[in-house]
Amino acid sequence: MEIRFKDISAEKIPADLLALPVRDKPLEEPALQRLDRRLKGKLAEQIKKSNFTAAEGSTLRYSTAGLLPAAHVLLLGMGKGSEIEADSWRKAAAQAKREAATIGAEELAFFLAPGGDPEAAVGPVVEGALLASYQFNKYRSEKRPASALRSLTLFRPGLRKNAAMDRSARLALSLAPGVFLARDLVNEPPSVTTARYLGQQAKRHCRGRGLSVEVWGRKRIQAMNLAGLLAVNRGSVEEPQFIIIRYKPARARKRVALVGKGITFDSGGLSLKPAKSMETMKLDMAGAAAIIGAMSRLPELGPTLEVTGYIPTTDNLPSGSAQKPGDVIRYLNGKTIEVLNTDAEGRLILADGLALAAREKPDCIIDLATLTGACMVALGNEVAGVFGNHQPLVDRLIRCGREAGEKLWQLPLVKEYREELKSSVADMKNIGGSYGGAITAALILQEFVGDRSWAHLDIAGPAFAEKEMATCPKGGTGFGVRTLLRFLSSY
Ligand code: BES
Ligand code: MN
Ligand code: ZN
Repeated sequence: MEIRFKDISAEKIPADLLALPVRDKPLEEPALQRLDRRLKGKLAEQIKKSNFTAAEGSTLRYSTAGLLPAAHVLLLGMGKGSEIEADSWRKAAAQAKREAATIGAEELAFFLAPGGDPEAAVGPVVEGALLASYQFNKYRSEKRPASALRSLTLFRPGLRKNAAMDRSARLALSLAPGVFLARDLVNEPPSVTTARYLGQQAKRHCRGRGLSVEVWGRKRIQAMNLAGLLAVNRGSVEEPQFIIIRYKPARARKRVALVGKGITFDSGGLSLKPAKSMETMKLDMAGAAAIIGAMSRLPELGPTLEVTGYIPTTDNLPSGSAQKPGDVIRYLNGKTIEVLNTDAEGRLILADGLALAAREKPDCIIDLATLTGACMVALGNEVAGVFGNHQPLVDRLIRCGREAGEKLWQLPLVKEYREELKSSVADMKNIGGSYGGAITAALILQEFVGDRSWAHLDIAGPAFAEKEMATCPKGGTGFGVRTLLRFLSSY
């Protein structure tokens, strides 16, 4: 997709689809009035007839029948309010991209309406249009029409492209393939995305220009004593893998460790989930996918940080050899966990990843995991929970998430709740009481990060779209990729 910037007015720009963000009282917008004059008042008529009030998310499409250089006009409701937020731009552009697809438009022109700082709008608009172009069609016999835009032209009279606009357009263009890779990895059926497949994909997408991948199989995992991963894997016929992705630029100012939950399918193990809860459990490697997707873009972005991704991966299945409630795991840092529920498996494998990461003494550790249903109960489908033992790290992640259009909300590490993790035989059990499940899970993770600065993102809600969203079809969302890449570029 080619991105262009143009100093031109709406009634002069040629395009297949001309997208015009409009606010509160559409008929009072000068740009729209000028267009309407060229359209002989028909647009105003249509607005009145259809009761289009420019409510956020509403749209109105009108065919210009040769009266304008643009074939169709699309009004995008931006709601009221004094300032248009980044996320509204992102969603509006995504909507425009979708409308373009339905009418087969290849040249989209997007009006950077007044009321927004054009410089702030460029990034989200380009990003929204790109993200909305994702499809996962591999398993459909009737392919949905490919809907690539040939060009996206951002325009407004007097618009001058500057370095900041160029930079944000480029950033959006370089993030998108990472998001799409993460979506693909999650969307693949769970019998395709096995631990070994994940390792192969990491190798395929993360190599060259400072990136390298190492994948450990069972032997090495045993030798390294990654006891949590081995315990969860006991019910499986697939070999567990431990993936390490390294990014080493010539000069590094800091060392960051990323740890991702890579459960390729979560049946619950012997503590079996009900069928309904299993339907989407291929999503349980979304943390791993976000790390692979993000790290695959590092050579392109070139941050001056050393980044190491640690991904423990296996499926979680019941069988005659599966781990049992009551089993105890002894970890490489000496701590022991009594497994009372085999469905609380994410923390068991993350413990290995965190302990291994902490041993290398990085400046900070960030883990991403579809860890708890409790976090979804608390924050719903669009917001990830973030926990951490170092507030500046948490604040920075929240800020990068806000810029990226990925919502993070901090939840507390309530030390009083450690009581609930007391085990009668081991240092702790792997489940707490009935309440605050996202917190007790995070408290278990905290036991494995030693004295490192650490943040934990519980992405159980936003990792997977159960209904279509503006910037994403149903399925894997690639949540975390954009936040991580902004975070890594922020030093
Ligand atoms: N992978 C699930 C968490 C999850 C649930 C992610 C729904 C996305 C959507 C995790 O392994 C799990 O099963 N957690 C249990 C923990 C419980 C047994 C303490 C849960 O949340 O029910
Ligand atoms: Mn589980
Ligand atoms: Zn799980």
